[in-house]
Amino acid sequence: MAEQKLPKLKTRVRFPSPAPTPASAGSPGFSDRVIHWQARFGRHDLPWQGTRDPYRLWVSEIMLQQTQVTTVIPYYERFMNRFPDVEALAAADENEVLQLWSGLGYYARARHLHRSAKQVAGRLGRFPETAHALRELPGVGRSTAAAIAVFAYGERQAILDGNVKRVLSRVFAVAGNPARAAVSAALWSLAESLLPESGIETYTQGLMDIGATRCTVRDPRCPDCPLQDLCQARQRGAVHDYPARRAARTVPERAFQMLVVARKGRLLLEKRPEGGIWGGLWSFPEAEVGDDPVEILRRRWGLRGRPAAALPPLRHALTHFLLHIHPVCLAVGGEEAESGDAGLLWVDAADVAGAAVPVPVRKVLQLLGEFPVDHPDRVFGAE
Ligand code: ADE
Ligand code: SF4
Repeated sequence: MAEQKLPKLKTRVRFPSPAPTPASAGSPGFSDRVIHWQARFGRHDLPWQGTRDPYRLWVSEIMLQQTQVTTVIPYYERFMNRFPDVEALAAADENEVLQLWSGLGYYARARHLHRSAKQVAGRLGRFPETAHALRELPGVGRSTAAAIAVFAYGERQAILDGNVKRVLSRVFAVAGNPARAAVSAALWSLAESLLPESGIETYTQGLMDIGATRCTVRDPRCPDCPLQDLCQARQRGAVHDYPARRAARTVPERAFQMLVVARKGRLLLEKRPEGGIWGGLWSFPEAEVGDDPVEILRRRWGLRGRPAAALPPLRHALTHFLLHIHPVCLAVGGEEAESGDAGLLWVDAADVAGAAVPVPVRKVLQLLGEFPVDHPDRVFGAE
């Protein structure tokens, strides 16, 4: 089994088992099935497996919170090469951390990671060693803390991420949307009641693997699932009714202009305020739809810009918003003074895509390449 390759823990803390509940009594073999299946059919070659290093596990779990494994892997490897330990991350410049995160989205995760690294390397002096203590770190919720504690320390804790919620809702036909507090509480009790007495690492990985490779949202592979003969949703022929979706809400939309301001081959980037979308990243300045971009440049930074071109609008979906972005190119003469504003940066056009920028900025750059706007030299400032 996977964990037999791992170094033995020096101290093994015993954690009290939760009281048996009807749920676990009613599903003999649940954890055995998960464990045996994981050993044979689960994933064993993910880059954060085979280590007990809480730093590496913590970074992986934060990246995996809202992003799929295949997307995470190259980001994780780059991040680990650049920041091999918590001290390296603590000493880093925030821009560099965000730059390595750029494209993964949900950038608060990267800022939390950086802040936590400073706490661990500084005030705390070492990594927290229990799920309870891990929850003190910014960005670490109950399930993430449990996953780190399981894989780093072998602590007997239940996880309940989106995948596991789906598996448990289906196997036990749990009604209601898991975003509701009462449903979530029921799922947490269930998750705790199912924990095995030993083999917590394999069990936890197995639940994750079943959620990712068998019990998928759209196309569950029930005939290959180790839980099929326990699964109430399957027995009822109602797999797709679980977990219950919440009532559809229309996503609010927002439209704005992105000003692509070119000056002698360099483009103007503005640091986004913390807290809003893309907080802390560098992006093209924005203006309301209908505002005159030339007037905006003059009023905000005293720059004299000439309109160069408008690009086709692009759509960018965020979780809670649909953005309609109208890119507008402007050229600014080389003689224009540079602002001393720390929140503004002129970056070589060729370097923008590699900076700590949100995805739509890259999309705009791609559009610039695809649409020979007017004359590209006018945009990228030959004069
Ligand atoms: N999703 C969240 N944590 C994970 C992990 N450790 N391995 C695979 N997928 C995950
Ligand atoms: Fe999910 Fe199907 Fe397995 Fe039930 S039998 S847990 S629905 S994959």
